[in-house]
Amino acid sequence: MCGIVGYIGQQPAPPIILEGLQKLEYRGYDSAGICTIDGGQAHIRRSKGKLVNLARLLAAVPMQGSVAIGHTRWATHGKPTETNAHPHKAGPVVLVHNGIIENYLTLKKDLHCNNHNFKSDTDTEVIAHLIEHEMVRGSGFEEAVRAALQELKGAYAVCLVSETEPGMMIAAKHGSPLVVGLGDREFMVASDIPPILPHTREMVFLEDDEMVVFKDGSARFSTVSGDSLTKIARHIDWSPLLAEKDGYRHFMLKEIFEQPRTVQDTLAGRLLEDEEDVCLEDLGLNDSELAQVRRICIVACGTSWHSGLVGKYLLEEHCRLPVEVDIASEFRYRNPVIGPETLLIAISQSGETADTLAAVREATIRGARTISICNVIDSSIARETEGVIYTHAGPEIGVASTKAFVTQLVALYLLMLRLGRVGGSITLERMLPHFATLLHLPALMERALRLDSAAESIARRYQHAGDFLYLGRGINYPIALEGALKMKELSYIHAEGYPAGEMKHGPIALIDENLPVVVLALKDRHYQKVISNMEEVIARGGRVIAICTEGDNEVALKAESVMYLPECSEWIAPILLSIPLQLLAYHMSSIKGNDVDQPRNLAKSVTVE
Ligand code: M6R
Repeated sequence: MCGIVGYIGQQPAPPIILEGLQKLEYRGYDSAGICTIDGGQAHIRRSKGKLVNLARLLAAVPMQGSVAIGHTRWATHGKPTETNAHPHKAGPVVLVHNGIIENYLTLKKDLHCNNHNFKSDTDTEVIAHLIEHEMVRGSGFEEAVRAALQELKGAYAVCLVSETEPGMMIAAKHGSPLVVGLGDREFMVASDIPPILPHTREMVFLEDDEMVVFKDGSARFSTVSGDSLTKIARHIDWSPLLAEKDGYRHFMLKEIFEQPRTVQDTLAGRLLEDEEDVCLEDLGLNDSELAQVRRICIVACGTSWHSGLVGKYLLEEHCRLPVEVDIASEFRYRNPVIGPETLLIAISQSGETADTLAAVREATIRGARTISICNVIDSSIARETEGVIYTHAGPEIGVASTKAFVTQLVALYLLMLRLGRVGGSITLERMLPHFATLLHLPALMERALRLDSAAESIARRYQHAGDFLYLGRGINYPIALEGALKMKELSYIHAEGYPAGEMKHGPIALIDENLPVVVLALKDRHYQKVISNMEEVIARGGRVIAICTEGDNEVALKAESVMYLPECSEWIAPILLSIPLQLLAYHMSSIKGNDVDQPRNLAKSVTVE
């Protein structure tokens, strides 16, 4: 996720772009850049790190021009360096991009053969070269943009200028958001509403494969392939703060609702349907090295540890390798038995958690092979492991992890498929149903998000509870732990997660008419056993909140409150179950008037012991 912004009009563009980028910094902040067209020439300034560095650069060396584009980056392809920062230029063409171009390597190879030299490691630069290539072959700027965009696979929102057309700006989108602001002979585009609000409230929301060309004080809309369009502007009446959160009350809620899209980003370019294989581009270990792995050890903290626990079920079942999952702060001090045949997988959203990083260092000293699953590109853990699977969830602002967690689960699923293929435990025949499951996942997640108002009513009903118990079995047991952690950290209500079968070994003593018990009771191989555990709770007066499969009347009759999820493969059930549990904890926190995005005593990234 990155933020892009563009301006064309009569005013000095650089301050407008800078102010716009400040409002988009929540979308990425590892580098930023701006390009203005002044005197028929493109002038570019870029800097690594937060936007303040670019602002300093502009203060020291000001820019002129009333056409400009800007970008704030959240790295996906290529490290967060100045060279990889946008805008990218090829010949006369300059662009900013938000999205992931899945076929960039193929396109880059072809362009190389046509004498195009690349300066950055990004997927984005390919687009600039493709357009330049078309222009060299005789197309005008607009025509070249149309031709190039039709070659792309993946997601993009782009804003482009060219030295050959100094009074023109073009924007288009496919899969990534793009809003167009219509002023009086001045126009803006941005990844989101906030940068546009101070300038105009009349906005057009581009649909996929739509494009807009600004020239001579007018905006002309069309499809990318060239059919003219009439777009109706909407009047946006939002307050600037609400707008930053896309209309949601909190970043956490926005991030919960973003999850289907982020899962698509995690999957982008990785399921090779033609080859019936999975591509994990930065995995670091080749097939023969992966085939030598005899044991897996996963280390992580907090929510990331819970995703590791789900990973154990996936990897053991499908790859037939023994998997241990350790809390990183325990692993680093306990003389673990690991060596060259052990694959250590470190899971961390931030990639900076001190204990997880220390565990990676410990494993490296002991000769284990190491990979990580991280969200933040080029973070310490990503750098210090031999390979990495980036989750591509975009910046997670809410301290309570939501979208990073579900994308970690998807990354583990992909790793399971890769390891299973290499090790021979997943045949081609068994691979394709997994592809279908993953490709269908975002649609099922959208359906799970419809539980928002049910989760809110349940939160209201149980808001005075002093404790919560969460029960799950099998691959959903870690989700009981995660549900309880979300409830604790957000609502400050004490909550425990337990494997449902463990109830009678102690926790059943807690049950009385004041204890809400969240039971994860989907129709899977453990269903009957979970129902028995639920009966045990009900028999002792406990108040059951069940999450069950649509159409399950048996559970509905017994439980006090119910939320239904669509039928799904048991391997993605943890992802779907996470959604109502996140929503329940979110609403509980919000009802109690807590600081949802920054709960007390917590930090987003724990870089100290
Ligand atoms: O950045 P990491 O994934 O390494 O962070 C690990 C934990 O600190 C983190 O998951 C924490 O438990 C969150 N507050 C959970 O919502």
